[in-house]
Amino acid sequence: METNITNISVEKVKTSKISQVDFNNLPFGKVYSDHMLVCDYVNGAWQTPHIIPHQKITLDPAAKIFHYGQSVFEGMKAYKDVDGHIWLFRPAENQARLNISSKRIAIPELPKEIFMEGLKTLIQIEKDWVPTTPGSSLYIRPFIFASGLGLHASPADQYKFLIVCAPSGPYFSGKLKVLIEEKYSRAANGGVGYAKAGGNYAGQFYPTQLAVEKGYQQVVWTDDNTHEYIEEAGAMNIFVRINDTLLTSPVSDRILDGVTRKSVIDIAKAEGIPVEIRKIRVEELVVASKNGSLKEMFGAGTAAVISPISGFGHRDADYSLPEIENSYADHLKKRITDIQYNRTDDPFNWRYRVL
Ligand code: COI
Repeated sequence: METNITNISVEKVKTSKISQVDFNNLPFGKVYSDHMLVCDYVNGAWQTPHIIPHQKITLDPAAKIFHYGQSVFEGMKAYKDVDGHIWLFRPAENQARLNISSKRIAIPELPKEIFMEGLKTLIQIEKDWVPTTPGSSLYIRPFIFASGLGLHASPADQYKFLIVCAPSGPYFSGKLKVLIEEKYSRAANGGVGYAKAGGNYAGQFYPTQLAVEKGYQQVVWTDDNTHEYIEEAGAMNIFVRINDTLLTSPVSDRILDGVTRKSVIDIAKAEGIPVEIRKIRVEELVVASKNGSLKEMFGAGTAAVISPISGFGHRDADYSLPEIENSYADHLKKRITDIQYNRTDDPFNWRYRVL
């Protein structure tokens, strides 16, 4: 369905907050730009989007989001290059995935044009909010939630699509120590693990808190059936390097089809790094750690980019990863961020210029 949205209305702030922001000390996702995009689904159709000052929204307590958690989101970033041009990275992937997620939890699909034109217009308006300090970017959070009312456990009849922006520094500081989780599961076959549904993340908080209490920062999720195979690292996809081979778990009902994940795979393959996309046994990691062939582990996601792992806990034992030179994590992070910030050519055609 194509919707004509050439009439996006724009109401600008009277006074920008930008002078209050310390762009040299940006946290992740805590400072918000001046404007946001809002688009309503009412009477069976997505309406014309509006760009308005970032503000609170008022909801009736009976809105279904509060009761049944009907919500999906995306994570994206805008990057500014040395000439002041602004770029997105593979935005069509996020647009498509938002609808894949929506479909799974019975949210009406959002027309592509509303997502793409709305996003582009908002980022153009927020151009001064795209930071240039090293490692920072404008984190973009498109999301949809059920604003329609009712306590009946069924899909809402009204939704809101919003995009908010947060100039942000790195998601994690330093390497992560992770705990391989064998009791709690993130996802199950036939479930919603592949969708970027808000509830998937809420379900991770408690097991992660338990891991933090034990001295780890994140959990490595294993398959819900046997807990023998690793699947994701916290809110990121997971990569493992054994000798010179880069391994990652295949996407499935249970694993998010991450944009950074697939980009890392493509870059690694193009550079002749042997890549295996296959199930990875926990036992294989333990054996490889003991015999020295486990060289690296890292998480990959939009927010965290590539986040190296310093070691993992499994049952009552801790396994440390070696400090190595020429790490794949460092190299792949440089390659992907060089493309994102327009510091190199873009052989895959992933950059998308906004301004
Ligand atoms: C992202 O990587 O952008 C995500 O959506 C993960 C989120 C938990 C920060």
